[in-house]
Amino acid sequence: MRTGLTPESKDKRRRKIVATQILKPTTENIVKCANTLKAGGLVAFPTETVYALGAVATDAAAVEKVYAVKSRPHDKPLIVAVSNVSEIDGVAVNIPDKARTLMKKFMPGALTLLLDRADCIPDIVTAGARTVAVRIPDNAIALKLLEIVGKPIVVPSANTSDKPSPTLADHVLTDLDGKIDYILDGGASEIGIESTIIDTRVGPPLILRGGGISADRITAEIGEVEFKREKPIMSSAYSPNAEVLFSAYYDGMAANICAKYDALTARGNKTVIICLASNISAYGNRNVFIAGSSYEDYAHNLFALLRRADAEHYDTVIAEGVRSEGIGASIINRLVRASGGLII
Ligand code: TXA
Ligand code: MG
Repeated sequence: MRTGLTPESKDKRRRKIVATQILKPTTENIVKCANTLKAGGLVAFPTETVYALGAVATDAAAVEKVYAVKSRPHDKPLIVAVSNVSEIDGVAVNIPDKARTLMKKFMPGALTLLLDRADCIPDIVTAGARTVAVRIPDNAIALKLLEIVGKPIVVPSANTSDKPSPTLADHVLTDLDGKIDYILDGGASEIGIESTIIDTRVGPPLILRGGGISADRITAEIGEVEFKREKPIMSSAYSPNAEVLFSAYYDGMAANICAKYDALTARGNKTVIICLASNISAYGNRNVFIAGSSYEDYAHNLFALLRRADAEHYDTVIAEGVRSEGIGASIINRLVRASGGLII
C-alpha cells in the first residue's frame, strides 16, 4: 500500500536532523552543502582562522537557528562573509578609503571590517546595529561554497557559545552534533584563532578584537590604530570545562608555573601545562602539552589543546604567557578570556 510519503521523506520535510554528517570537501559535497544553505539549513565549514557555522545572511529564519544551536545571546552580532571584494559593496555602504586599502592588502584573509550596513542585511545578523562586520575567508573550500551559494553567509565560529573555537571538524561535531546538517571537513584551520576586527570609520581606526592579522601589519598599511579597551569584568569565553590559569610572560615564569602546578597536584588536581617546545626542559616530568615552536604554532594549537584537556579529563590547565608582539597579543587576549582573568 502506498501512503505517498515514506517515514524517511516525512522526516526530510520536517528537516529533523538526527545526526550531523561530516563530509569530505569534494565538489559534489560542496554543492550539496550549498543547496542545504539555500534551503535555509546550517552547514559548518573550514576557514583559515577557525571553523564557521554558516547560514544565508539574508535569510532571517536561518540566522535565528544559528543563535539557537550555538546558545548565543541575541545581542552578540554575527560576521558576514562574501567571496570577493566587489560583493562587499552589496552588504555595506559608505566604505572608507582606509577600509579599501585593507581590503586590497588582506582580503581574502583573517581581517574583518566593521562598516555601515546595507539594507539587505537583516537586523538579526547585526543585533539591530546599523553596522555590519564583513570578511572574506582565505580557504578554498569556504570560497567555493560562497561562490556556489552566491549570497552572503554568516560566519560565527562553529562552537557552542563560550567554548573554545573549533579548529577541526571533530571539534564542531563535539559541540553541534544533531543540531546542524553537515560539516565540511577541511582538516585543521591554518591560523587557529579568529580574524582581527577593525573599525576604520573612526579616527584613529579601532581594533575591536585582535586576531590573525597583527596590529603592526595593519599600521604598516593605514598608520596608527588603537585597541578597544576590554571591560574589567569580561564574560567567559573560549572556556573548556577545565579551569584555565594563565601566566604573564617574564624571566622566571617557568619556576612560578612549576610551583603552582606542584601545589595543585598535591591537592589531587590533575593538571597540565601548555608550553612552547623551547621551554619544555623547565617542567621536568610534569604533564605538558607542547604548543609548538613559534607564536604562530601556539595560536594554531591553543584551542585544540584546551579541548584536548577536557577529552583527557584534566582539572586545570596552566598556560605559558607570551610576549605581546605580533600574533602574541592575540594569544594573550584569548588566554586572558579563557582564564576569566585568573593570572598567576
Ligand atoms: O575568524 C573569524 O572571524 C571567525 C570565522 C569562523 O569567520 N568567526 C568568528 O565569529 O570569530 P564569532 O561570532 O565567534 O565572533 C564574532 C565577533 C563577536 O565578538 C561579535 O560581537 C563581533 O564579531 N561583531 C560581529 N558583528 C558586529 C557588529 N556589527 N558590530 C560589532 N561587533 C560585531
Ligand atoms: Mg566565537
